[in-house]
Amino acid sequence: AAATRYEAESATIVQGAAESNHSGYSGTGFVNGDNVVGSYVEFTVTAASAGTGQIAIRYSNGTTAGRPADVAVGGTVVSAARAFNATADWNTWATSTLTTPVKAGSNKIRLTSTTANGLPNLDYIDFAVTSSDTQAPT
Ligand code: GCU
Ligand code: CA
Repeated sequence: AAATRYEAESATIVQGAAESNHSGYSGTGFVNGDNVVGSYVEFTVTAASAGTGQIAIRYSNGTTAGRPADVAVGGTVVSAARAFNATADWNTWATSTLTTPVKAGSNKIRLTSTTANGLPNLDYIDFAVTSSDTQAPT
């Protein structure tokens, strides 16, 4: 199925704010998470079926240090301290893509900073179920 875009500025933001003072973002802006351990953005996505979900995370990191973050789906960390490395500046965006099991219906996808540098700036996630679970007839 085609991916659905979920803008970070429309997600649940804990310790951070939606801003628009850099260029190149989608939607009305991006999320600037506070530069602390534990700031997070949580997206609620819908999967048409259980299976393998693909999450493409668009971010910017205009510093020279990494901005690692845990990626959790339904409360389970599926990518621990995932790297969000430096981009050229805060107007330059990169995409980091991972796959994860998802359940049918609503799934909460949370990115939580793991260092005092905080989150990278987050623009959106694109989410799609790329393969559905199947069960052989019995
Ligand atoms: C700058 C930048 C912010 C960014 C912040 C950071 O203030 O303008 O968009 O979030 O640095 O270091 O996290
Ligand atoms: Ca920040």
